[in-house]
Amino acid sequence: MLRITLCLLAAILTPSACDTVHKNIYQPPVCDGRPVIGGASVYGTRPATPFLYTIAAAGRRPMTFTAKGLPGGLTLDRHTGIITGQVDAAGAYTVTVGAANAGGRDTAELTLVIGERLALTPPMGWMSWNQFGPDISETLIRQVADAMVESGMRDAGYQYIFIDDHWHGKRGADGIISPHPDKFPGGMKALSDYVHSKGLKLGIYSDAAEHTCGGEPGSLGYEDNDAGTYAEWGMDYLKYDYCGAPKDRAAAVERYRTMADALNRTGRSIVFGVCEWGPRQPWLWAADSGGHLWRTTWDIRDSWLHRGLYDSGHAGILTVLDKQVGLEQYAAPGRWNDPDMLVVGLRGKGKSSSHDGANGCTEDEYRSQMSLWCLLAAPLYASCDVRTMDEATRSILTNTEAIAVNQDPLGKQARRIAKTGDLEVWGKPLSGGQWAVGLLNRSGAPAAITADWKAIGIEGAWYARDLWRHETLGVFTGTLTREVKSHETVLLRLWPKQD
Ligand code: GLA
Repeated sequence: MLRITLCLLAAILTPSACDTVHKNIYQPPVCDGRPVIGGASVYGTRPATPFLYTIAAAGRRPMTFTAKGLPGGLTLDRHTGIITGQVDAAGAYTVTVGAANAGGRDTAELTLVIGERLALTPPMGWMSWNQFGPDISETLIRQVADAMVESGMRDAGYQYIFIDDHWHGKRGADGIISPHPDKFPGGMKALSDYVHSKGLKLGIYSDAAEHTCGGEPGSLGYEDNDAGTYAEWGMDYLKYDYCGAPKDRAAAVERYRTMADALNRTGRSIVFGVCEWGPRQPWLWAADSGGHLWRTTWDIRDSWLHRGLYDSGHAGILTVLDKQVGLEQYAAPGRWNDPDMLVVGLRGKGKSSSHDGANGCTEDEYRSQMSLWCLLAAPLYASCDVRTMDEATRSILTNTEAIAVNQDPLGKQARRIAKTGDLEVWGKPLSGGQWAVGLLNRSGAPAAITADWKAIGIEGAWYARDLWRHETLGVFTGTLTREVKSHETVLLRLWPKQD
């Protein structure tokens, strides 16, 4: 009640905070529970294969959904916003989706691109590795699916659940792999049916060698078998690791190509994640090898700055961030640099993310990672235990205004446009001639950071909105200065003032 009253008060005092949806100006926050449609506004999938898209709408339930202009073969569940079916004819279809509840209504344009292009916005989901390592099971995955719906993560645009290493059982004499009989007794097909029934997608993990990084059976020599099995199981994504594989780039190019071809032959829409961690510069070749995204660094740890350990395979948030400088030119719809999982909310409790003494981050640092990963157009994989996450974590992960920056259909990655010691400005061009700007303070004390229009490459008067405070700050000309806390990243959206 107090929250609602405060929200209404805020709406009266600062009308912009709860303003009517106007997608060309900005993505408004969820205020007083009204529907706000977010997530991917451009969605690519293959023809003549099972279709699944869930309208992501934050706001109070119950909610009813509409979709005008759906191509033949698709059906909308009006109560959940889940669209299923199959489209046989390739082409681009413009659909107007709507979401309504007792407090109001929102509509948005959704472009369905039926063809061979996938991952037209950065994939969003939850990955099992950081928190759980090998301790995964079908029970866990089902509970995570439930939690993603109940927590509002699905409504904020998260689509996938990625099962990482250690799901495996044995490879049979016929070359067919099975899931571990104790961890996944019901089998993967039943599990994917469950996950799909929630409007979510399921991903799986393998490796381009004899064994995975955890010593499970890899896919080398079994690519067609495994791709066929994953398709039969209803998998929507494959993370393909590189432990135990040759060091040279030519071998990687070939091994990833072989698996991509095998996935393509299944006809199913399976997004392909390349995970060779960066040593062979996958940004130069992974897209041509059929990858939709590629890891750019070693594994991220639950740490702001993991000093000195990068070359032994570990990194903190800032270590990973610094490796993204210059890679922005390689990102585009369907081809993303992947700086690894969000460590938001792990709080030093993850099995894999706590290696080597990584013992968690502060709230500001977690919020910074979310800001920065949204600016980087990074795939957004939450990795904490979403079944038990606290409200602070939930609100970081489900900030629809930050997510709108990440999912912007232009698909540009931010570049570091200024660095003065520990103070940095990052800029990401958005569709409609807008900009997202991040002001990052790496230092140990608060500091004023100025974004200079010249450095961004804009001129004139621009509105600026703080995407964490959900507040339009006013109109700025030439520069914008904000006080930034230690380890904070202020995330702003700028749009030109029109007279
Ligand atoms: C590698 C990857 C991680 C995870 C583990 C699983 O280290 O980089 O993301 O998949 O393997 O063993």
